[in-house]
Parts: sequence; structure tokens; C-alpha cells
Amino acid sequence: MEFWQLEDQNPQPSKRHQGSSVFTLREMEEATNSFSEENLLGKGGFGRVYKGTLRSGEVVAIKKMELPPFKEAEGEREFRVEVDILSRLDHPNLVSLIGYCADGKHRFLVYEFLQNGNLQDHLNGIGEAFMEWPKRLKVALGAANGLAYLHSSTAVGIPIVHRDFKSTNVLLNANFEAKISDFGLAKLMPEGQETYMTVRVLGTFGYFDPEYTSTGKLTLQSDVYAFGVVLLELLTGRRAVDLNQGPNDQNLVLQVRHILNDRKKLRKVLDPELSRSSYTMESIAMFANLASRCVRVESSERPSMADCVKELQVIIYTNSKGLGTTMHTLRMV
Ligand SMILES: Nc1ncnc2c1ncn2[C@@H]1O[C@H](COP(=O)(O)OP(=O)(O)OP(=O)(O)O)[C@@H](O)[C@H]1O
Ligand SMILES: [Mg+2]
Repeated sequence: MEFWQLEDQNPQPSKRHQGSSVFTLREMEEATNSFSEENLLGKGGFGRVYKGTLRSGEVVAIKKMELPPFKEAEGEREFRVEVDILSRLDHPNLVSLIGYCADGKHRFLVYEFLQNGNLQDHLNGIGEAFMEWPKRLKVALGAANGLAYLHSSTAVGIPIVHRDFKSTNVLLNANFEAKISDFGLAKLMPEGQETYMTVRVLGTFGYFDPEYTSTGKLTLQSDVYAFGVVLLELLTGRRAVDLNQGPNDQNLVLQVRHILNDRKKLRKVLDPELSRSSYTMESIAMFANLASRCVRVESSERPSMADCVKELQVIIYTNSKGLGTTMHTLRMV
């Protein structure tokens, strides 16, 4: 019997396995009021996600696997990778896995609940609070820290490629701290192996590393490309792929790549909702320059995630220093 299969279907106190709890189907039903509509948080490729309250009183997010039969084997694989990898990771910028349920054919993943949902909803005005520039910089730095931790060997002894980094997989807590989620496609990269040949290209349209899609060679730099796309979403407030646009304007990277290092043109693509008092043009230009390097076609020309962390720290400093000076100048006037 595999470790996530329950020996006993009767409700019993939750057991701990490698830091994550094992729940019964009954506990999942109780926590979500039988998966009631009012507890529904969202829906993704794996199934629906519900808000739930465990018997301990802890508020969680419960992801229920709902897949058509032909996708079940793939879903099972993603479920195991998610449990295996996430239960070994511990970082403030990665979502915590509280436990899972594998009761008969039912599969659930139980995560810490993140009050502000996903980043994409906030950028598209679905989230309640509007994110001004300093908040966006903080989210970019948090996500960069999370990816840098995955890429370093400190996480599990070998680097990990996330493979599905995107703005819906960046979740935000009550303080708008970013936490990366969804490790189902993640891949461990054994020491000395810088690339991993894949037969099928997996990930999400709009975030695909062009080198990975054309060669099937997966590297840590594929995550850097996807990170660059999220930086562009933060900068422009636009979606990575917008099917409402004409055929040539659907892909954000293709749409803005050529103007990222041109300050004048940059103003035209900057999110028009950002208030002028929240940013300095200097920090916007530095941010756009970083994004342009992350989305380079040649993966070897992209910065590492550790470089991105350092640059974002400088950008945050530049913005706050610039705004401080501006305020001082205004007061003098
Ligand atoms: N831990 C959580 N706390 C709060 N909300 C969450 C949590 N996990 C997921 N959600 C919400 O549920 C939604 C669906 O998540 P899910 O990961 O299933 O799909 P997705 O990321 O939108 O798409 P995909 O399946 O392609 O990854 C998220 O977009 C988010 O709004
Ligand atoms: Mg997701």
C-alpha cells in the first residue's frame, strides 16, 4: 500500500507524514460544508479549490482533483509530485502544504489559506485592493526569493525547476506577501545536470520559454523566462495572453519586448491605473530592463533568479529613495 492510501476509511485524528497531515474524505467534506458553492475559491486545470475550516479550527484552501478519466493518470502523477516536493520545502515565499487526502479514488491537497487570492486577479481588477507600484515591487521580490530558493540546492539538496510559474500561481497573503503555489509539474535537477530532455512540453501558454518549446530542453532558466512574463504583467497590468486582442497583440512578450528599453515608449505600456505618485521613472526603467533580459530568447543570456533578487532590491531602494526626494522637493515648493 502506498503511503498516501488510507488503511482505514473511518474518521480518525489526522496523522502526520513528513510534516503534512493525512485527512479522510469525511474531514474534507466537513471542512468545506460538503463543497458548498459559497466556499468555492476558484477553479483550475486540476479541479475546484474551496475554502475550508479543519477540526482544529485552522482555515485552509482545499484543492479537489476532478479530472476526466483519460487525465487521471497525469493528475495522480502531479498529485504525488506536489505532495512529495512541497512537504519537503519550507520558505516564506512558497505556499505551505498542510496535508492531503487520498481516500479511494478521491484526491485532495490542503494548503494554508491565502487571503488575497492570486496575483492575476489583482492586476485585472477582480481583487478588491488595487496594487500600487511599491506593492508590485514587493510581490516581484517575494516571488523572486521563492524561485531563487527552489533553484538553489538549499531546498532539497538539488535544484528544482517549477515549470508552471505564472501570475495565477502567485498567491498573496493578508500583507500582500507573495507565495508561489502549484508544484505538480516541478522537476528535480540532479547535480551536474543542467538540462533535462522532455518528450512533451508542459506548462502554460503565454509563459513558455521559447528555447524549451523548440528544443524540449528544460533548464532553470525556463522559470526565469516565466518570471519575466510576470514582471511584464506587473508593469503593464495586462494579461500574459489576451484572447480579446487581435492575433498579433495576444502575446504580452511579443507585444512589448521591443520597447522595454526605450523610456519614452515605455510610458505608453505602463499600467495606466498606477498613480503617478507611487513610482519613479527610474525604477520603472530598471524594472523593464530586468524584465527584458528575463524574456530573452537565448536562455544563457537571461539573469539567474539570484541576480533578479539582487536587482529587485536595488529597484525597491531606488523607488523609495526617489519618492522620498520628490516628496521633499514638493514640500520645499
Ligand atoms: N492556498 C490558497 N489560498 C487562497 N486561494 C487559493 C489557494 N490556492 C488556490 N486558490 C485560488 O483558487 C484558484 C484556482 O487555483 P488552481 O491552482 O487550481 O488554478 P490556476 O492556478 O488558476 O490554474 P492552473 O490549474 O492552470 O494552475 C486560484 O487562482 C486562486 O485564486
Ligand atoms: Mg494554480
